[in-house]
Amino acid sequence: RDRQPIIAIDGPAGAGKSTVARQVAAELGLVYLDTGAMYRAMTWLVVQKGIALDDECAIAELAHTCNIELTPSSDLKSPVRVWIDDVDITQEIRTVEVTSKVSAIAAQSAVRQALVKQQQNWGKKGGLVAEGRDIGSHVFPDAEVKIFLTASVTERARRRQQDFKKQGQPEVSLEQLERDIAERDWKDSTRKVSPLQKAADAVELQTDGMNISEVAAQIINYFHQRLSQW
Ligand code: CDP
Ligand code: CDP
Repeated sequence: RDRQPIIAIDGPAGAGKSTVARQVAAELGLVYLDTGAMYRAMTWLVVQKGIALDDECAIAELAHTCNIELTPSSDLKSPVRVWIDDVDITQEIRTVEVTSKVSAIAAQSAVRQALVKQQQNWGKKGGLVAEGRDIGSHVFPDAEVKIFLTASVTERARRRQQDFKKQGQPEVSLEQLERDIAERDWKDSTRKVSPLQKAADAVELQTDGMNISEVAAQIINYFHQRLSQW
């Protein structure tokens, strides 16, 4: 083969993509690529520059000129540091404001074009676990392993609530979190460009009641199974 294998993990918000992808990458010695962080970084920049979310021209210009970098870090809480134009925005991209606006930015075709191109460049040599919404269907359609991670809205809201608690953030009700997640699911799966969808050849993993290690172990098993078939 002309490149190392690629594992693509897609699925809705809170399904466990980042946590599981990170663990799988660590165990298999692959690089972890968090594509959601890139859409979040773009969103942070748009807000910071005071550009209206529907000003697609200005946003397109920004998408083609800004410089997003992801670097590994030894901090267990944020194993990837996110930079845009040399500013460290690792914390800033996780705020409620960025989270509520990111779907609107990620729906713009110029933004997707610019970021997907960069992801494909990084993935040329393979050897990565990439996680997002359109990895198996669009970014790396020839990935050796494609996983579609899901969990019920209630389960995903519960996980997010635990996240907020652990981070010492003010408590958000389960109902509010369920509404936010359902709204983002809807926006991400109904947009015109590269909507969230399970690739035809992806394996779906329903993870209600499964912990992170159990999910990671299933993916690693599947990876070895596929590897033995090449
Ligand atoms: O971690 P969480 O699932 O909340 O979100 P994320 O993976 O950080 O992604 C944030 C947003 O970026 C998603 O709601 C999508 O709108 C967008 N996204 C996308 O459109 N395509 C990707 N490959 C990754 C993220
Ligand atoms: O990246 P995505 O939005 O899909 O989810 P995540 O940020 O990896 O996971 C959301 C939260 O659920 C994290 O706190 C994970 O530790 C937790 N989680 C879990 O409790 N059980 C799983 N099987 C997967 C994730």
